[in-house]
This record gives sequence, C-alpha cells and structure tokens, in this order.
Amino acid sequence: MNSDLLKQKAQEVLKQNDLGNWTRPTAGHYPHQWLWDSCFIAIGLAQYDVKRAQKEIISLLRGQWSNGMIPHMIFGDETGYNTSAELWRSHLSPYSPHKVSTSGITQPPMIAEAVVHIGAKLKKTERHEWYKKVWPYLLDYHAWLYNDRDLHSEGMVSLIHPWETGLDNTPPWIEAMHQHQKPLWIKIIEWLHIDHFIDQLRRDSRQSSPNERISTLDTLILYSVVKRIRRKQYDTQKIVLRSHFIIEDVFFNSILLRANTLLEQIGKEINKDIPATTLSSMHKASKALEELWNEESQQYFSRYFITRKSIMQPSIATLMPLYAGTVSKKRAAILVKHLEDPALFGTPYPAPSVPVSSEYYDPKRYWQGPTWINTNWLIIDGLSRYGYTAEAQRLKDRTIEMITKSGYFEYFNSQNGLGEGMAPFSWSAALTIDLLSTTIKAKK
Ligand code: GLC
Repeated sequence: MNSDLLKQKAQEVLKQNDLGNWTRPTAGHYPHQWLWDSCFIAIGLAQYDVKRAQKEIISLLRGQWSNGMIPHMIFGDETGYNTSAELWRSHLSPYSPHKVSTSGITQPPMIAEAVVHIGAKLKKTERHEWYKKVWPYLLDYHAWLYNDRDLHSEGMVSLIHPWETGLDNTPPWIEAMHQHQKPLWIKIIEWLHIDHFIDQLRRDSRQSSPNERISTLDTLILYSVVKRIRRKQYDTQKIVLRSHFIIEDVFFNSILLRANTLLEQIGKEINKDIPATTLSSMHKASKALEELWNEESQQYFSRYFITRKSIMQPSIATLMPLYAGTVSKKRAAILVKHLEDPALFGTPYPAPSVPVSSEYYDPKRYWQGPTWINTNWLIIDGLSRYGYTAEAQRLKDRTIEMITKSGYFEYFNSQNGLGEGMAPFSWSAALTIDLLSTTIKAKK
C-alpha cells in the first residue's frame, strides 16, 4: 500500500472515532477520552487539521482538577463500560471539576509534546497565542506532579495505580500488585478457580480473545485498587499512608523529563517563567532518573517508593530514558544495543512491550509482549534525538510494514506482526500519519 493511501485510511479511522471535540480510542470498548490517547491523536491531527488538533487538547484540559491534576479519563455519555463515572465517583474529591466527570488518577504526561507538535504547524503569532492559552494548564499540571507526587522531594514522581503508567498489566506492576495488593476475596477466587466463569462475562473478551487481554484475576485486583484510592477520596497523602503499592516508575518519569524540557522551551518562547519551586524539582529530575539504573543488569528499573527496592522485572520502560533525552550517550548506546538484541527487544516486529527473555513474554498478551505503535513512536523520537538515525529509520520501516500488513489495530503480535486487540484504533492511525509525514533526521 502506498503512503498516501495508508494516510487516507488513517484519517478515515480518526474521522470514524471523532466525537466532535475529542476522539475515542475505538468504538465499543473505549468510549471515553483518555489523556495520552488524545495527545497522540493530536500529534497525528496536527499534520492535516491543526484546528481540530487544538480542539482535542483543549477538550482534554477541561478535565483538569483545581489542584492541577489532569485525569487519565474524562467520561463520555455512553454508559455500560465498567471503568465508568460510577466506579470512579470523582465528585468525592473537593478538587474535581463540577461539570465534568473524570477518573481520579493521571496518565503519562504527553501534553507538552502534543502542544509543541501543534505549535510547529502554526505561524509565529498564532503559535504564541496557542502557547499562552495552554500555558497556565501545563504549569499547574507540572506543579501538581511535583507538589503532590514527588514524595521524597527528589525530582521523582510516584504513581498510585498501574493505569497511570498507561501500560496496564506491565510485569513490574503486576509483580508488585501480586505481592502487596491481593485482597482476601481475590485469593479465594483464585483458590476456587472460578475466574474462568467470570471470563465469560467480560465485555473486552467479547471483542477480542481473552488470551490477548489482561487476566481476569489481575483485572479484579486493578478494580480493587480503584476502590481503595476512591475510599481515600484520591488524596495522595492518605493513599500513601501504610501502602506498599506506590511506585517510582521509570516509564512515566522518563516521559515527564521530556515534558519538562518542552515546558521550558515553550516558556522561553513566550517569555514566561516557571515558578522557582517547580523549576527546582524539574532540575533534580534527570539525576533522580539515574538512580533507577542497575549496573549489574545494565538497565533501568522502577522501584518501590517506601523501601526504594528495585522491581527487577524488565519491560519496555527500560528503553524509555532514550525518549527522556537526559541520559548520557554511553547509557543511550547500551539501550540501543538492548533494542536491537534478538534475545531482548529485537523481535521480528519490534519493539515488544517486554523483552523475549522475560518469564512474562507472550507476543499476544496486551502489555506483556506485543508491539504498540505509541511506544515505537517514543523510541523513534528518542533515537533521532541521540543521532541514531539508521536505527530510528529501521524501527519506523518495520512499524509501517506492520500497519500495512495488518491495519490500524490496538497492538500487534511481536513475532508475526498480526493485529491484536481492538480496531480500528485511533493512536495507531494518528501516529502512522505522523511517521509518514516526517523524515527521520538527527534532531535536537
Ligand atoms: C488501555 C491502555 C491505555 C490506554 C487506554 C485507552 O487501558 O493500556 O494505555 O490509554 O486503553 O486506549
């Protein structure tokens, strides 16, 4: 398929999922607005309809809480999906917005990246207007991330739910969840082996096979964590108290580091200062990330906030400091080697969400082995900024090949490139448009 046809088909996907001011990830299973989905979607939209891309971001910002948090979901009108307004009850928090119903957690902070991609398509005066419009929201969000979530005041943000990573069932979090977050009633279900009956009631399994999704037991635990943090009215101080399930996540913090750099660039362009307290946390962040490096295994691992013990489960998060852009050239070179090593991330259709050497690796199961377009896009961007243009081009070509072969699926089997999960999926389409519209070159 030629690139124009591929782009045209991608635009059709985005049109089909367009709900006016924002875009759902896909019909049926994902009827709401998600934080990082909307950012990736805006990056694609910016390539051909910058006004619509701006709308996507503005409608995401309407969900911002008065304490600065930007929630990972804003609920649409369609009901019946279990991650709904009724589950979250955001009104329990005094900070939640009155007119919008949202979740009570955040998601990887991709907003500054989307804002800059839109800015790049605007003339200087329009760009400055755009930046000035979103600046207060961005500033409050970054301030919240550090005031509320930098629990050791070290420039490292902690997460309270695996959904905040965007990689729902990623092995390090699953391992931590099994150790610290398994309620008795779930242990009983496990012991009685009745989870297979519950499988049949799951809505996502009606649209795709259960072995491509998160296991039922893990899904039940994820919901029990929501109920626990809801009981604490989404108040971080209360949630952190007596909980071991709080993690300094390498994936999220890498994305935040990049967002910090972009925030500073935006501020400089429109002559706005970042308040000193936020700026000082931002400046500690790159050193804090290096503390997650494990010399023996030559990779980055997330760690528990309380004990500071590393969670030694490899995943795609290991590669994400490439996107952060703050790690040394020497460490970046090691990550590039891991990326291309067939025993780790160098599968026929890279880059898998966990390396093939992992005990969790399954080329079809959600965030435990398939390849996702958004993480490939982040790696391609990071590789280009470190000057690894040939590697970035190779990953881009493989990604496009996979899409051409299988279509705009949610994720892909990392061995044979076949589409898995839901379709047609918005960020796969949007990021393909962006990849096809840009030339890989060494960036700054
Ligand atoms: C799943 C993904 C998450 C995404 C959401 C909507 O929960 O794990 O990253 O934002 O679906 O597409």
